[in-house]
Amino acid sequence: MRRLVVSEHPLVRVLVTRLRDRATAPADFRGLVGRLTMLLLHEALADVVTVPHGVATPLAKSEGADLAAPIVFVPILRAGLGMADGALALWPDAEVRHLGLYRDEATLAPVVYYDRASGASLAGATVVVLDPMLATAGSAIAAVDRLTSLSGATDIRFVGLIGAPEGVAALSAAHPGVPIHLAALDDRLTSQGDPWPPGYILPGLGDAGDRQFATSAD
Ligand code: PRP
Ligand code: URA
Repeated sequence: MRRLVVSEHPLVRVLVTRLRDRATAPADFRGLVGRLTMLLLHEALADVVTVPHGVATPLAKSEGADLAAPIVFVPILRAGLGMADGALALWPDAEVRHLGLYRDEATLAPVVYYDRASGASLAGATVVVLDPMLATAGSAIAAVDRLTSLSGATDIRFVGLIGAPEGVAALSAAHPGVPIHLAALDDRLTSQGDPWPPGYILPGLGDAGDRQFATSAD
C-alpha cells in the first residue's frame, strides 16, 4: 500500500476548492468537511481485511463478508470533529475516541488537554486518525505516539484534508508504517514575513477549527 495517497478524485478536487474559499460560511464548511471525509475514507479503508460471513436471505443462504477487525475513528479536537461526523455517516458502527490537542502558538508544539483515545487497548483494531490539517505534523505524531505506546495500536491510518510537504515528511519519518491520505498536498508552511503567522499551510484554508465553528483567533 502506498504511504502517501493524495486523492485525484474529481469530486474531491471540486469540494476542496469550495473548502478553501474564504467566502465559504461555517455551515457550508462543515458540510464540505464531512463530504470530503467520506470520499477519502472510501479509499483509506479499501484494504481492510474481511472474513467470510454467511447470511440467510429470505430466499437462500449466501456467503458474504464481515470486518476482521473493528474500525476506530480518532478525531483530533477541535477540527477533527467535523471529520468524525462524516466518518460516522460512512461507517456508523465505528467506535469514536476523542483526542484533544492544540498547538502552542509560540512553539507550535502539540499540547494534550483531553484524551479519551488512548488507554484501553487498540490492539487488532483499524484505527483512523482524523484531522483536517497536517501542517508541522506535531499533532499527528503526538496522536500516533499515544495510540501506539499507550494502547498498542498497530494498524493506524491518518486521514486529513490538506497537508504541507513538511508535515508529510515529518509524519512519514516518525511513523513510516502509517499511511497518509489527503485531499490535497499544498506548497509549504508559512514562515516569518508571510501574511499569516509561521506554521500555517499555504495556500491552505486558514484555521480549520475557526472556520468550522465560527470562532476567531483575534
Ligand atoms: C490545528 C489542526 C491540527 C493542527 C495541525 O489545530 O486541527 O490539529 O492544528 O498543526 P500541526 O500539524 O502543526 O500540529 P489547532 O492547534 O489550531 O487547534 P484547534 O483545532 O482546537 O483549533
Ligand atoms: N492548523 C490549521 O487550522 N491550519 C493550518 O494551516 C495549520 C494548522
